[in-house]
Amino acid sequence: MCFFPPHCFSIYFALILVLLCIDKGAIGATFTLINKCDYTVWPGILANVGSSGLGATGFELLPSGSRSFQAPSNWSGRIWGRTGCNFDPNTQQGTCTTGDCGSNQMSCNGAGASPPATLAEFTIGSGTQDFYDMSLVDGYNLPMIIDPHGGTGACGSTGCVTDLNQQCPNELRVRDGVACKSACEVFRSPEYCCSGAYASPTTCKPSVYSEIFKSACPKSYSYAYDDATSTFTCTGADYTITFCPSTTSQKSARDSAAAAAPPPAIGSETRTGEIPLIVNSPWFSNFFTGLSSKTHSSASSFIFTLIILIFLSLQ
Ligand SMILES: *[C@@H]1O[C@H](CO)[C@@H](O)[C@H](O)[C@H]1NC(C)=O
Repeated sequence: MCFFPPHCFSIYFALILVLLCIDKGAIGATFTLINKCDYTVWPGILANVGSSGLGATGFELLPSGSRSFQAPSNWSGRIWGRTGCNFDPNTQQGTCTTGDCGSNQMSCNGAGASPPATLAEFTIGSGTQDFYDMSLVDGYNLPMIIDPHGGTGACGSTGCVTDLNQQCPNELRVRDGVACKSACEVFRSPEYCCSGAYASPTTCKPSVYSEIFKSACPKSYSYAYDDATSTFTCTGADYTITFCPSTTSQKSARDSAAAAAPPPAIGSETRTGEIPLIVNSPWFSNFFTGLSSKTHSSASSFIFTLIILIFLSLQ
C-alpha cells in the first residue's frame, strides 16, 4: 500500500503537475475548414483586435480540401470564404469576385471581407463557454455551416445550408447571382441598417429582406438585432466550418449524442489512434482524445487523477 508515506507524495505531485500542464495546453479550440463546394474557395480569417493570428489570414482551399488551425483561449474573430479569386502565378497578386479583402493577395493580412459575405463569427472562451454564429448581416456569398465537436452544453450546428444566391431578390442580387447583398448595403437607410433612431433591438425590426434571409437560413443572423436563436454556445469544443455543406445538411438535425462524436481526423489535426479495448469507453476515449487535441474538462482530469492515485495506492 502506498497512500500517505512521504515517498508517495512526489509521485502524486508529479502526476497532478502533468495533468495541470495538459489542461493548460488544452484550452482553446481547433478550427477545421472543409471545402465541400465543387469549386475552389479562398478562406479569409480575421482576428479581432486583441486576438493573435491563427497562422494564416487567407489561403486556397481546393474542393474536398481541409485545413486546421489552433485558436488560443479568448480568441475572437471571423472566418469567411472568398470565391472566384484569380491570383497571378508570378506576382501572387489578384482579387476575388466575392468576399475580397482588398489585400490584392492570397493573405488578407488583417483586412476583412468586403460585403456581401457569409461570416462565421467566434468568441472562444477560457474554460468558459464559446459563442459562435453565422452572420448574414453583411450579406451572403456561399453556404456555410459551423459544427461543434466534443464540447459540453447546447452546442448546436448553425449556418446556412441553403443556396441563398438562388433566392436573392433582384434588387439585392450581385451580377448574375454570385452573391446577395444586405438591404442595409443596398438602401443605406437607418431602418435596414439598425442605425440612428433604429439602433436598438426594440426599434430595429425584421424587414421583408431580412425575412427572406431568415426563412432561407433560420439559424443565421439576418439583421443586426436578430433574435437570440442566432447566437450559439458550447464549452470546450472544436469546430468544423464547412463551405457548401448541402451533402451533409441532415447534420444540423442530428441529436446531441451524434454531435458528441469526434470530428473526422483531417488536415493537420493529429488524433490518438487505437485506444486499448479495456479502456474503450466514451469516458476514456474522451480523455485520450483530449490528450491529443484538447476538449476535456478539469473535472475529468480530476477524476482521472483520483483513479490513478487509488490505483497506485493499491500497489
Ligand atoms: C481570458 O479572458 C479573461 C477575461 O478577460 C481573463 O480573465 C483570462 O485571464 C483570459 N485568459 C487567457 C488565457 O488569456
